[in-house]
Amino acid sequence: MRWFFRGPAASDEVVPSPNIWYHQHVYDVENRAQDTGGDIWRVLREESDWTGRDVLDLGCGDGYHLPFFAADARSVLGIEPHPPLARDAERRVRDLGNVRVRVGRAQQLPVDDASVDIVHARTAYFFGPGCEPGLREAERVLRPGGSIVIVDLDVTSEPYGGWMRADLPHYDPPAVERFFAAHGFNCRRVRTRWRFADFAAAESVLKIEFSAKVAQRAIADTHRLNPGPGEVTLPVGYRVHCRVKPTGLVLPGHSAALPESPESSSSTSPRIE
Ligand SMILES: C[S@@+](CC[C@H](N)C(=O)[O-])C[C@H]1O[C@@H](n2cnc3c(N)ncnc32)[C@H](O)[C@@H]1O
Repeated sequence: MRWFFRGPAASDEVVPSPNIWYHQHVYDVENRAQDTGGDIWRVLREESDWTGRDVLDLGCGDGYHLPFFAADARSVLGIEPHPPLARDAERRVRDLGNVRVRVGRAQQLPVDDASVDIVHARTAYFFGPGCEPGLREAERVLRPGGSIVIVDLDVTSEPYGGWMRADLPHYDPPAVERFFAAHGFNCRRVRTRWRFADFAAAESVLKIEFSAKVAQRAIADTHRLNPGPGEVTLPVGYRVHCRVKPTGLVLPGHSAALPESPESSSSTSPRIE
């Protein structure tokens, strides 16, 4: 897959996202195809309802999710390190009085301490080991009782996960899940369907997400799953990880805050559904 899964990131690194950086129009088709049944939104609400609260969307890209949050949130702040995308995000929300966009990155948020209620990141930066600097920053900017919610693809879910694994032979899904559990996150798996108007739209998205060889396989599989003309759907699984910042006094040995290292973790009970 063409999001570049790497080892531990340099502390100031911007993670290359060729899909949205170089194929923004097709990525918009991909965003519109996702979660058409609203299952990710439902799980996010169950984990951390944003009604009347202050939301930070980290790695917001061109701002696709900002208006969804803005409909109910008190305020929404999009943070995006790639300036052309930040500009387009700003353009998208210019008529929404409760949304702002800033250029910035997860490792050094241009945001005051304890000033937001929810940090949301969707397929952005928090890919597993290496994202500790961003987790520390999220904890800093959250108010006590606030939540960090991370949405990412479930690489164990077929068929999409199989295509991802073919392009990412070194990606270790259990290690990524252990990482989030060790840092105090629960994990909910969400089965969704991507829904495209026609085969050409699905094909264009598969071509920006995978190497040429894997895209060819994914396109052939998609044909088999959708033999007729018209709408094309694909099952795609996600993980939603959530961690709540503790309120009040945290006793030594009972901290739910970010541990120095996973080994020293005394995390809240991770929940895997
Ligand atoms: C695959 S895109 C997802 C964009 C958006 N969340 C969405 O779902 O439409 C990943 C985004 O993460 C951004 N990103 C890369 N490195 C980052 C970092 N260090 N901190 C925050 N965002 C980062 C990229 O510029 C890109 O916009």
